[in-house]
Amino acid sequence: MKETLEQLKPRFEQALAAALGAEYAGVDPILVTASNPKFGDYQANVALPLAKQVGKPPRAIAEQIVLKLDVNDFCENPTVAGPGFINLTLKPAYLEAQLQKINPDPRLGIASVKHPKKVIVDYPSPNIAKEMHVGHLRPAVIGDCLSRILEFIGHDVVRLSHVGDWGTPFGMLIAYLQKAYPEALTTDENLNLGDLSSFYRQAKKQFDTDEGFKEAARQAVVQLQAGEEKTILAWKIVCQLSSRAYRVIYDLMGIAPFIERGESFYNALLAETIEELEAKGLVEIDAGAKCIFLEGFTNKEGKPLPLIVQKSDGGYNYATTDLAAIRYRVNVDKAQRVIYPVGAEQTNHFAQIFQVGKRAGWITDEVEFFHAPFGLVLGEDGSKLKTRSGEAVRLKDLLDEAIAHARKDLESRLKEEGREETEEFINHVAQVIGISAVKYADLSQNRNSNYIFSYDKMLALQGNTAPYMLYAYARIQGISRKGGIDFEQLGDNVKVVLQHETELVLAKHLLQLDEVISTIEEDLLPNRLCEYLFQLSQKFNQFYDRDRGVPVLNAEEPQRTSRLVLCNLTARTLKLGLSLLGIPVLERM
Ligand code: ARG
Repeated sequence: MKETLEQLKPRFEQALAAALGAEYAGVDPILVTASNPKFGDYQANVALPLAKQVGKPPRAIAEQIVLKLDVNDFCENPTVAGPGFINLTLKPAYLEAQLQKINPDPRLGIASVKHPKKVIVDYPSPNIAKEMHVGHLRPAVIGDCLSRILEFIGHDVVRLSHVGDWGTPFGMLIAYLQKAYPEALTTDENLNLGDLSSFYRQAKKQFDTDEGFKEAARQAVVQLQAGEEKTILAWKIVCQLSSRAYRVIYDLMGIAPFIERGESFYNALLAETIEELEAKGLVEIDAGAKCIFLEGFTNKEGKPLPLIVQKSDGGYNYATTDLAAIRYRVNVDKAQRVIYPVGAEQTNHFAQIFQVGKRAGWITDEVEFFHAPFGLVLGEDGSKLKTRSGEAVRLKDLLDEAIAHARKDLESRLKEEGREETEEFINHVAQVIGISAVKYADLSQNRNSNYIFSYDKMLALQGNTAPYMLYAYARIQGISRKGGIDFEQLGDNVKVVLQHETELVLAKHLLQLDEVISTIEEDLLPNRLCEYLFQLSQKFNQFYDRDRGVPVLNAEEPQRTSRLVLCNLTARTLKLGLSLLGIPVLERM
């Protein structure tokens, strides 16, 4: 209800001027959502900080303002509470009109931003000379979700995967390709190099056991950096192989397409990036390496910490590439906001490169660079999630297992309910529930924290989980099936009537999605959307509860249609909200 808040502001301006004098018109009314629904919907805290200036107790000031406050068209009579809070309660008629207004809108009243920005989201940015493991989960899930939200509200979002596609780790893979598949280098056809994981494993085995092969791998790195043609070709083949295998898993996860613009893309720009830093007087030589001494970062002796941008052997590093990327994103991409959903362990890295970006004049007030950090995925024992043999869990295994668990749950539920379903239905539902559970468990935590990965918790039908949310949606579709009603046929000009407390509570919640999305646009915390959807499901369940709620299909008109509209709006809000999390819905489950 951003619109409601916007409407309230000028009313307060008038009231402040009328009550206290024209010079008070511009004072911020400090409008917030009421902390307790008992006190109404909104609360204005303006009177409290004014006490000193006006020379009266805040309560008296609040009462003066209320006398002049004209909000009769959409609020009940404002009241003053506590030390001087002004409480506002929206009128049912106003809520009814708002719901009638958003009902025909496929966007459910969520407007696009007035000033769309060019936003780059740097994700999932894996290092591709490895198999995908659990560490690849969060950047993909969080980056995908943030991109979807920003795009939905109208920003021009560019998803750029800063893949680690260069350097030492590729030596081993190139050498292995040259040795095991020499024909790959002489034909244009796409050779079948087997699945990527066995390719990696074979290469690693050779590397660990064969000294000659190790030397070949080292040579391959040198050749790669020198731009030797055949080696570059082999490197490209390995990258493509890797990209394709990664895409299969991203597709399984429902991660939208993104552009791969890896570290190698910036190779040709590294020298000029350093030249510019040198020309701006930022570079110093320290033990033969080119560095930039950082402000606010010190070593153990309390001396400024150097950020190495070119090693003494002339080689560049991760930071150099990221600096070239910052420069490119500002100068060429013309980005206005650049978001890096990357693990919290890289917090210093980003603080450092952003500092250098600012000192170099690339990052100005016109463009925001933001590291959106996230914590680790932990095992049930509270340490980093590992397999029994101590390796990082492969992402594919983790997803497959989630699907298998979901399938088991589903099959026992079907048995309990005495339902027969086709194999196709079971496969589909198990896959959607399994993958959604993993994604939702990740997104529903504040991204800054670590979380414990538990199949049991994420697949529970109760609580803040994907299955609970999917079930709420499917249940509403069940109402339409049971009543033989096509929600779409209810029409756009239906009348909404709100009488029962649970109807009012649900109605207000339905109207709050735009505020939630605006907040996420600022602080980039997807768990806010999960929390909103969870509360929506709970409020719907209360509304639909046999004892505490109201009848729907058995209600009289005009309540019946109105309540069906509330059902449909809830379902559509769930569907939209889940789609922004990257989660599809199920009509039945
Ligand atoms: N490839 C890096 C890693 O796996 C993440 C890159 C994040 N993006 C960036 N521009 N540094 O740790």
